[in-house]
Amino acid sequence: MNKISLINPYNNKKLIQKNNNFIDEDGNIFSGKNYIPRINNSTSYTNNFGYQWNKFAETQILKKNYSDGIDINNLRLFQQTSWKKDDLKGINILEAGSGAGRFSRVILENTSANLYSFDSSNAVDANKKNNLTFFNKNFFLSQSDIENIPYKNNMFDKVICFGVLQHTKYFYKSINNLIDKLKPEGEIIIDFYPINGFWTKISAKYILRPLLKRLPNNTLLKLIEYSANTFINLYFIFNKLGLNILTRFIPICDIKNALPDNLSPEKLREWVILDTFDMFSPKYDNPQKISKVKKYMENNNIEITFAGFVKIKNMKSAVIRGIKK
Ligand SMILES: C[S@@+](CC[C@H](N)C(=O)[O-])C[C@H]1O[C@@H](n2cnc3c(N)ncnc32)[C@H](O)[C@@H]1O
Repeated sequence: MNKISLINPYNNKKLIQKNNNFIDEDGNIFSGKNYIPRINNSTSYTNNFGYQWNKFAETQILKKNYSDGIDINNLRLFQQTSWKKDDLKGINILEAGSGAGRFSRVILENTSANLYSFDSSNAVDANKKNNLTFFNKNFFLSQSDIENIPYKNNMFDKVICFGVLQHTKYFYKSINNLIDKLKPEGEIIIDFYPINGFWTKISAKYILRPLLKRLPNNTLLKLIEYSANTFINLYFIFNKLGLNILTRFIPICDIKNALPDNLSPEKLREWVILDTFDMFSPKYDNPQKISKVKKYMENNNIEITFAGFVKIKNMKSAVIRGIKK
């Protein structure tokens, strides 16, 4: 299958790499710092993610982090997508908001698909470091905004977007931008934070976010590191006493439901710090009702093949899969 060319999303003209820049025929230049095309430099609202993924580049990636040897990223990718490895040979997959590249890595290690991943933050540097072996062979990375994806429309066999949409400025417009990139009969798979009921936003996370998201990244991280042990202990005490209903008011991530259950104590602390930073620092955090997103996609040329929760060991994700008509 033919590879897909990188374009300048502002005029649709092909970008060619020259030395360490990417240039179109009109002479428009994009930096290629670290040999990654930097199409987007303006989405400063995701700087927190760049900071987070470069600090914790390997935390969620290496298999050695898992005491029982189960690679939770592999499990999650294949359960959420329902893909069979052999169906992916040579196809073109677009991955939106790739972070430090945990899912990029699963695709690259397990399939021979061509993968085009982008993220609006400099998390792409962490992704490159994690997946260097594949870089520019069948793996094409760019620092790009979901608002201006640097590939032509109707090109991709599959589009995935995991853990991203609730953090974008325009949740629904972002979905349309992804659908535009799919070929007719191509498949889109997204996951996002769900609204489960009126209580979804009654938690330490949503009470403290208006304040904590405004702190400088390093101050917030220090605060979380300083308090992590106390809150982890408190979480487990509440859990042991059957007071699970109260754990949502402890200002750390939901250990039992959001983290793999096979982490060593040191790794658990590292994941808690990362996930707690990830919950307080984003500028946008807009959970959605699965039924509403499903309806929206149906109204935007997608035939839904699945909409609901996918269970991955002790965790669950709100997932929608569909095919472009
Ligand atoms: C919670 S992280 C998830 C990363 C990765 N998908 C994973 O699951 O490990 C969300 C990512 O979405 C990226 N992101 C948020 N808004 C974006 C946008 N407008 N365009 C591209 N990426 C965006 C962030 O920079 C961040 O790396």
